[in-house]
Amino acid sequence: DKGEFRHYMLKEIYEQPKVIKATMEGRVTDSRVLEQALGTGAADLLANVRHVQIIACGTSYHAGMVARYWIEELAGIACSVEVASEYRYRKHVIQPDTLFLCISQSGETADTLAALRQAKQAGFRAALAICNVPGSSLVRESDLVIMTHAGPEIGVASTKAFTTQLVSLLIFTLALARHNGLSEAREADIVAALRQLPGQIDDALALDGKIAELSKAFMDKNHSLFLGRGAMYPVAMEGALKLKEISYIHAEAYPAGELKHGPLALVDSEMPVVTVAPNNELLEKLKSNLEEVRARGGELFVFADGDAELQEQPGIHVLQIPAVHAITAPIVYTLPLQLLSYHVAVLKGTDVDQPRNLAKSVTVE
Ligand code: M6R
Repeated sequence: DKGEFRHYMLKEIYEQPKVIKATMEGRVTDSRVLEQALGTGAADLLANVRHVQIIACGTSYHAGMVARYWIEELAGIACSVEVASEYRYRKHVIQPDTLFLCISQSGETADTLAALRQAKQAGFRAALAICNVPGSSLVRESDLVIMTHAGPEIGVASTKAFTTQLVSLLIFTLALARHNGLSEAREADIVAALRQLPGQIDDALALDGKIAELSKAFMDKNHSLFLGRGAMYPVAMEGALKLKEISYIHAEAYPAGELKHGPLALVDSEMPVVTVAPNNELLEKLKSNLEEVRARGGELFVFADGDAELQEQPGIHVLQIPAVHAITAPIVYTLPLQLLSYHVAVLKGTDVDQPRNLAKSVTVE
């Protein structure tokens, strides 16, 4: 039931404060992650992990890409991320003491399951699943499970599943990092940031009207570029996937630093460029990338921290996002990109919940 909402996708976008809270419930205290909530034996298991291999498809793959930044930064453990359909069809090497982490909303994605089954033959320490469907094949075939409590996701374009995957991945990262030198103070700082998320996402949702206004600029465009740096690069990838999936506008994501290595050649007044710019150590670098786009006549749409001192000016639309912790920023900055793609699709009159050619769950190759 869509209730007061016009589409399931919009309803699911608006459910995010609630389901993020539900996903944290019983897993974090005021200052710590409760490792036992990750399953019996989780502590012993995590203490011995030396490498994390993440496998997923689509939006779930983007969640895995964000997690790699967290895992290497906070736990200091090497992490590889790959789409399941590539991983399963190549010869791969599994490092000793690898935790094999599959991320899937449905738990029935054929490629992800095939990659897990194959890796089992090759041997790993344990398989962890991050999944939204209890009793799914992925859950049944994994040693440890973190359920995302997103509730049923009807819209083909994944929204609340993604942000609850991120919350689960950050909880997992903190549990892993504790065995690898993360201080109690840093853990408490990040847990506090996690607990602020529902409120911050409410604040991001309040930008809905402004984003609907911005979306008009995309209606007659055929292409768009999404830029981000660091953990915001996978957020840009996810924003681009949402836009192409439901509005059928070609959207490509690039790490901002790659601009000069090719995509800058595409930039002109017909190419809107969307950027996610929280106030982190990469902001100054990102600003000079924006200058490069502006100098070529590209129209910029910047979702930025108020402190970023980016001014609205001709050709640069700035939407201020309330200040957030650098670690949880990828979760909050996902929201405006979901809303942007939603409004563009509504304006274009596409079938938002059931985009052409796509199925909710890809259970065959
Ligand atoms: O159920 P899964 O998370 O394994 O599904 C993976 C992808 O098929 C899925 O995320 C797909 O990319 C979505 N339509 C994205 O919105």
